[in-house]
Amino acid sequence: MALAVWRREQSALAAMPDALRSLPIDYVSLKSFNLVGLPALRHLLVEGGVVSQEAFVTLPKLQAPDLATLVDSLVGEGHGLIMLMGKGGVGKTTIAAAVAVELASRGYPVHLTTSDPAAHLAETLEGSLDHLTVSRIEPHVETERYRQHVMDTKGRDLDAKGKALLEEDLRSPCTEEIAVFQAFSRIIREAGKKFVVMDTAPTGHTLLLLDATGAYHRETARQLGQSGIKFTTPMMQLQDAKQTKVLIVTLAENTPVLEAAGLQSDLRRANIEPWAWIINNSLAMANPTSALMRQRASNELAQIEAVTTRHAKRWAVVPLQAEEPIGVERLKKLARHSVG
Ligand SMILES: Nc1ncnc2c1ncn2[C@@H]1O[C@H](COP(=O)(O)OP(=O)(O)O)[C@@H](O)[C@H]1O
Ligand SMILES: [Mg+2]
Repeated sequence: MALAVWRREQSALAAMPDALRSLPIDYVSLKSFNLVGLPALRHLLVEGGVVSQEAFVTLPKLQAPDLATLVDSLVGEGHGLIMLMGKGGVGKTTIAAAVAVELASRGYPVHLTTSDPAAHLAETLEGSLDHLTVSRIEPHVETERYRQHVMDTKGRDLDAKGKALLEEDLRSPCTEEIAVFQAFSRIIREAGKKFVVMDTAPTGHTLLLLDATGAYHRETARQLGQSGIKFTTPMMQLQDAKQTKVLIVTLAENTPVLEAAGLQSDLRRANIEPWAWIINNSLAMANPTSALMRQRASNELAQIEAVTTRHAKRWAVVPLQAEEPIGVERLKKLARHSVG
């Protein structure tokens, strides 16, 4: 495991753009301890560091459901919206793809979609599995489409000056937010018939998206509220536990768990109750052999306990993989503990 981590680091460093490579570089080695408190910080820049005295810690056998097991209980009526949320880099895109692969392998129709501009998995999975379709919400494309639409409708009968003003208006950052929201609303409607697995962009952006959803909901409710017309807004769909399941992805480290708990409270404030937590990249679950990795694995235990006893109603733990989890086979492996 330690060797695999080292190899992946080496290839990431080798793939570094030249512009970065030409800058001065400092290497700070991975420590066995969490960087909280003065003594820990003092040791941060000391090479060799303090690997603890008992070089080989004993790790209890961790009992936790794997992702495939969590997916079993997620199937329900055979369709619905599944949203992955969490900070950047915790594994949302990867877990979204793994969940989509699990569902599609069970024979359910699945639409995996991402609004994350950095998502590379979409390409890898495209066309590789029956029942699975993959799409991307590209903020630029959506914004352009929306801008064009507004110019063709609202802007059609304006004079040159009016058109210029409207174009100016459409250059505001809100335009992208609205455009992405429209694409989002369009896609989540499919969840009535199939599974829609949504890999959202990092948290701040996600919450903006939800905020736009809330604003739209209030506006629709205001306009239709008195009329007696039945309506469903995307926000109502997100709040309905029968239609939507939010999965929070985190790492088994102090700050990420606190941030995920913060995200959970934000969602609750919007009346969205997260369905499950996924602890990704777990060393404790990977049962590593090197002293450093085992030390770090044992540091995870308190965090895993906090998630399972305090924060989450349901959970799964996903071990750190030796190889980059890309492609159907590796994603299936990631979802199962039993496979070496
Ligand atoms: N369980 C895992 N084991 C090993 N690598 C992982 C695991 N989960 C994710 N990764 C890798 O970590 C990086 C970040 O994951 P990603 O899914 O893109 O995160 P996010 O979408 O939350 O930003 C990617 O290179 C991905 O391949
Ligand atoms: Mg992502």
